[in-house]
Amino acid sequence: MDLTLDAETVAVESSGDVARVVVDRPDRLNALNVETLGALSDAFDAAEAAGARAVVVTGAGDSAFVAGADIEHMSEMDPPEALAYAEAGHDLCRQVERFPAPVIAAVNGYAFGGGCELALACDLRVASERAVLGQTEVDLGIVPGWGGTQRLPRLVGDEVARRLIFFGERVDATDASEHGLVGEVVAHDELDGRVDDLAATLAEKPRHAIRAAKDAINASHESDLDSGLAYERRTFAGLFGTHDQREGMAAFQEDRDPAFE
Ligand code: COA
Repeated sequence: MDLTLDAETVAVESSGDVARVVVDRPDRLNALNVETLGALSDAFDAAEAAGARAVVVTGAGDSAFVAGADIEHMSEMDPPEALAYAEAGHDLCRQVERFPAPVIAAVNGYAFGGGCELALACDLRVASERAVLGQTEVDLGIVPGWGGTQRLPRLVGDEVARRLIFFGERVDATDASEHGLVGEVVAHDELDGRVDDLAATLAEKPRHAIRAAKDAINASHESDLDSGLAYERRTFAGLFGTHDQREGMAAFQEDRDPAFE
C-alpha cells in the first residue's frame, strides 16, 4: 500500500493493508491544534485513497495518546472561533467514524478531552495499562466539544457518561475497561503488537462485509429500530451475489480457506 503524507505533526506508515496514523507532537503531549487536526484528516484521506483495510491511530512518545484539544490555542478564542474549532473536531471524528474500514485506537497514555473523543470515534479501543482517559473539559470551564456528550453515553451508558463528564474524572485503564470505555487493556510494551494483530486480522476479512457491518452498526446509533432493521435487511441482501459472499459460502461447503477480494 502506497501511503505518504507531508505533515510535521502527523506521521503515517503502512504494513500490508494496514495504515498506522501517529499524532506526532510529543512536546505538547500530542494535543490537537488546528494544524494537527488538518494533518490527521489528510492522513485518513491518504489511508482511504490507498485502500487501507484497517487503520491504527496512536500518539508519539511514551506518555500520551492525545492530551486533548490545544488549551493554549483555545484560551484565546472567542465564540465564533470556538464554533469553528468544534466543527473541525466534529468533521475529523465523523471522518474516522465513517472511514470505510475499521479504525483502532491504540491508547498508549493520556487521552483527555479531544483525545478521548478521538478514541470514541474509533471502532475499537485498546489501552495500555498506563493509559488514563477522561472528558476533563468542565474543569476548564467548558464542555466536551468534539462529540463527547453524544458518543460517550452511547458507549458507556448515560449514568457513567454523566459522572465522567460532570466530575471531569481521569480514569485509569482498569476503570476505563470496567466502564466499557476501552475494549481491552494490555501491558504497555504489548500494546503495539496486540493492536497490529487485531488490525492485520481485520485486514484479512472480507472488505465489503466489514464495511457493511460498520455502517450498519453506526446506523443503529442514528435511527429508530425499524429504520435500523430496514437498513440491515438492505445491507444483508446487498452482499448476496458479491464475490466474497459466493467465495465465503463455497469455501465453507468445500472445507477450505476462503480467498476474499
Ligand atoms: N493543550 C496544550 N498543551 C498541552 C496540553 C493540551 N491539552 N496538555 C499538555 N500540554 C503541554 C503542557 O502545557 C506542557 O507544555 P510546557 O512543557 O511548555 O509547559 C507539555 O504539554 C507537557 O505537559 P505537562 O503538564 O508538563 O506534563 P505532565 O506529565 O505533568 O502532565 C497531563 C500531563 C496530561 C496530566 C497534563 O498536561 C494535563 O492535564 N493536560 C491537560 C489535559 C486536558 O485537560 N485536556 C483536555 C483539553 S480539551
